[in-house]
Amino acid sequence: MKVTVVGAGAVGATCADNIARKELVEELVLVDIKEGFAEGKALDIMQTASLLGFDTRVIGSTNDYSKTANSDVCVITSGIPRKPGMTREELIGTNAKIVEEVSKNLLKYSPNTILVVISNPMDTMTYLTLKATGLPKHRVIGMGGILDSARFKCYLQQALDCSPNDLHATVIGGHGDTTMIPLTRLATLNGTLVSNLLGEAELKQVSADTMVGGATLTKLLGTSAWYAPGAAGAALVESIIRNEKKVFPCCVSLEGEYGQNDICLGVPVVIGRNGWEKIIDYKLNAEEQELFNKSADAVRNMNQVLDTLVA
Ligand SMILES: NC(=O)c1ccc[n+]([C@@H]2O[C@H](COP(=O)([O-])OP(=O)(O)OC[C@H]3O[C@@H](n4cnc5c(N)ncnc54)[C@H](O)[C@@H]3O)[C@@H](O)[C@H]2O)c1
Repeated sequence: MKVTVVGAGAVGATCADNIARKELVEELVLVDIKEGFAEGKALDIMQTASLLGFDTRVIGSTNDYSKTANSDVCVITSGIPRKPGMTREELIGTNAKIVEEVSKNLLKYSPNTILVVISNPMDTMTYLTLKATGLPKHRVIGMGGILDSARFKCYLQQALDCSPNDLHATVIGGHGDTTMIPLTRLATLNGTLVSNLLGEAELKQVSADTMVGGATLTKLLGTSAWYAPGAAGAALVESIIRNEKKVFPCCVSLEGEYGQNDICLGVPVVIGRNGWEKIIDYKLNAEEQELFNKSADAVRNMNQVLDTLVA
């Protein structure tokens, strides 16, 4: 099996590092536009092989997509972060160009690949990738909800003083601080509802902390995070490569599910060898559905910026 990660920056390299450590594939290709950068990151990761005991071959490439040929999964992390003074429209414009070009280059050499989109604004970039490539919907998956859910579990773990591995907790909706929806009502600790273990105010705080999870890290680090985003990307790749059929919240194309159409948004899906295989209906209550609809409206507004780019 073979995986390509485009963008050898903080998130891409960490994602590649996790994929190599887990020995998910025989060959892992890291691509970046910056001369020599992916080669350097790949060599650095390869030099951990004898220390960590993996046999995955990691190869770097400066924009030579022929090296990515026949990848089973391709992860797109290339893009730029929002710079001071940059409007949201300008960011979407720049990253849309990068993501569209990268996905077309990848498909030229791996026509049967599954595309995982991580670049931000992720929901809009996933929608763009689906439209620009014309791929069957099951082969385009946006990663954001896995990271947000891991952050949700981290804050729950702190509030409950429990193992994060005993928690089931999901964030759906958009991957933005105002569009994500931590589903506190459905969160469980080994089958017990978390809402029976925490007070309303504590749960509200966990939810609020989760929603600003990314911003909190950006403030602390001076740049956006990479360990958890990289690990979340690798967990998604693992469920595809190993056909695990894990249920992860991922950004996928909705055709009536959760009451939405013509949008890519985070919902629980089964992830296996064919990409996202089916959407699980969590049967939202009226309040959650209203939040989901609002999230969809906000993401749809962002998607409209794409039309202005084409025009
Ligand atoms: N979806 C999520 O959960 C999530 C989480 C964290 C970060 N992100 C997003 O992931 C992206 C990457 O973040 P990062 O911290 O790794 O940024 P980074 O700046 O460290 O890395 C981005 C890399 O992309 C490369 N690149 C730019 N244009 C390219 C092109 N045309 N072809 C190939 N490579 C190209 C750059 O050279 C750079 O090395 C950003 O858009 C960020 O907002 C998403």
